[in-house]
Amino acid sequence: MTALLVKNIGILQTPAGSFPHGGKAQGENLKLRDAAILIENGVIREITDGGRLPQGSEEADTVVDAEGKLVTPGLVEGHTHMVFGGYRQHEIPMKLKGAGYLDILRAGGGILDTVRKTREAGFEELYGKTEGFLDEMMALGVTTCEAKSGYGLDFDTEVKMLQVLKKLNEEHPMDVVATFMGAHAVPDEYKDRPDDFIDMLCEEVMPYVKAQGLAEFADIFTEDSVFNYGQSKRYLERAKALGFGLKVHADEIEAIGGSQLAGEMGAVSCEHLISIDEKGLEALAKGGVTAMCLPATSFYLGADFAPARKMIELGIPVAAASDFNPGSCPSLNLQFVMNLACIKYKMLPEEVLTAVTVNPACAIGRGDRVGTLEKGKQGDLVIWDAPDMDMLCYRFGSNLALQVIKKGELVS
Ligand code: NIG
Ligand code: FE
Repeated sequence: MTALLVKNIGILQTPAGSFPHGGKAQGENLKLRDAAILIENGVIREITDGGRLPQGSEEADTVVDAEGKLVTPGLVEGHTHMVFGGYRQHEIPMKLKGAGYLDILRAGGGILDTVRKTREAGFEELYGKTEGFLDEMMALGVTTCEAKSGYGLDFDTEVKMLQVLKKLNEEHPMDVVATFMGAHAVPDEYKDRPDDFIDMLCEEVMPYVKAQGLAEFADIFTEDSVFNYGQSKRYLERAKALGFGLKVHADEIEAIGGSQLAGEMGAVSCEHLISIDEKGLEALAKGGVTAMCLPATSFYLGADFAPARKMIELGIPVAAASDFNPGSCPSLNLQFVMNLACIKYKMLPEEVLTAVTVNPACAIGRGDRVGTLEKGKQGDLVIWDAPDMDMLCYRFGSNLALQVIKKGELVS
């Protein structure tokens, strides 16, 4: 048995429970003062406050003194596209000259450019690059993350990307949850035949991915010039029948019914939602769908920000994630996402904490294990160079994660 004690915690702040927190519950956090936490064999055994130490503390192999700082659950990153070949810095001058995100994609660039580079990249190259991203994320306080395929758009490369994620989940301290996103764009070989492409994904790739246990969720880019409502529905129905949890990239640029579809199909989360309309909001609320909001993408695209306050008013659980990818958000800094959620979405620090812990944890099927600090959950936490959550939402551009603990081990 190994045990780790963190003592002298100024404030231990955490949401409670293993369910998506919407409405008023979004802003409900437990705040324990002068707290301590004992983690045994990777699992939280006891949390105390008021200067008391948990029973059995004297047997801890490692004692960490938090020196009066803030401790929260390890952050949960709910939406990334972190496996990719190359980068797309050459798009910067194009954008500055006025090209929009979809203009670049329609001209065969954007996602399709990354597809070419990802098809060319070997397994080891992608593994090493993604491993570096996981290290960087962990140093910033993330202890569990989601990652999507979708830069292969053919059988071999989609499977290669998912195998990279599977191996990293086994070998890296980060918990990695994979999503199959074969329907991320229409590849050149299916140009003008999007329906045939969807058929191929549904009949050839998806069943294999499921049978090999390579992904738990399926996602699709429902967007003007990408996949329409009908194609998205067909893809999601097949995914549902195969037993995948559902996610939808919707209303990133145009609202073409993706968020309604997410509600109708009982998706676990719906992502982006910059241009969501009343019908979409209603569908998410009715369907119990978590809104995965991606403010760093809005920032980087120079776009509007999703109406997160309105979502909270409607009782929709809000999560905030980076969307890390080589096009619309080349940053994996979830702390910056927290700053943006506060300043641009006008979310209170407590609501922000819920948005980067328990809500994304539930949206990636890990709500029973991570996202809160409670007895019996995984010992994943961050000691911050901050006295309280206000400070975390206020300082930006610096890494305030002092120490990151994953399953009771210091990892950063
Ligand atoms: O979530 N919108 C689609 N997918 C990503 C962008 C991918 C890319 O540009 O490479 C997103 O923003
Ligand atoms: Fe995305």
